[in-house]
Amino acid sequence: MALVTMKYELAKAEKENYAVPAFNFFTFSNLAGIAQAAKNKRSPVIAMATVSGTKIMGENASVKMCEGVSEDYGIDMVVHLDHCRDYDMIRRCIDDGFTSVMIDASSKSYDENVDITSRIVEYAAKYGVTVEAELGSIGGKEDDIEVDDMSALFTQPEEAVRFVRDTHVDCLAVAAGTVHGFYKAEPKIDFARIAKIHTLIPDIPLVLHGGTGVSYEDLRKAIACGIRKINVGTEFRVHGISDTVKNEYAKLPDADPRNVCRSVIENCAVIAEELIDVVGSAGKAV
Ligand code: 13P
Repeated sequence: MALVTMKYELAKAEKENYAVPAFNFFTFSNLAGIAQAAKNKRSPVIAMATVSGTKIMGENASVKMCEGVSEDYGIDMVVHLDHCRDYDMIRRCIDDGFTSVMIDASSKSYDENVDITSRIVEYAAKYGVTVEAELGSIGGKEDDIEVDDMSALFTQPEEAVRFVRDTHVDCLAVAAGTVHGFYKAEPKIDFARIAKIHTLIPDIPLVLHGGTGVSYEDLRKAIACGIRKINVGTEFRVHGISDTVKNEYAKLPDADPRNVCRSVIENCAVIAEELIDVVGSAGKAV
């Protein structure tokens, strides 16, 4: 069992019409819960380190933790750097063994986005590392990147075709109505836009960000339109970790931290298993 590339997992998902679940991890227990769920469900899984989380846990340690859990739990795992705008950090993470990275230059002009994304693609190709980029602009707050709802811009299908041709990126995050973080109102996803982009660039797996709070019906519809990776983070950070820790100490102020960590593992596994069932990846691990 080992770390695998995202390109490989997403190509299989495209062939078999499901999405690979991509979960943010912020602590070791959170990651162990994700691994537990992948093992229980025999599902492929993408463990996504955030930039701020990686700065706390360490770039090298983030990879080594994933390597360790993939061996301990007997699963294949993709270790992905999520939403990074820093070229040097991405290079270091590739050097350290991340099998996938996301360059997020979506706040830049089209030409600047193309420039930095293609430089990352060129560097990553030497190591066989998968690259995800974003075109358009996804609203909400993700890590230290905040896009107010008025500035969120949906991905233009024709521009997506040009962008993929100009950068040779492996997969593309599309902005089509989801936002990062909790929703203030029911999200209105532009499924027709996703389907159109998928038809125009069928070989490029599409990524849906902002999975927390999207109805299961909408997640399934998005997959039917061509989404192959679904990102979920806030659900783990808030419900999987924070609420669990608060509840454990509310029940028992002297709780042993080892028991608290065990509860975080269990609760994160419950969240991950439910999402695995929704995205149709159960039983798809090779
Ligand atoms: P949520 O935190 O809204 O689930 O989004 C996560 C995400 O898209 C990470 O890239």
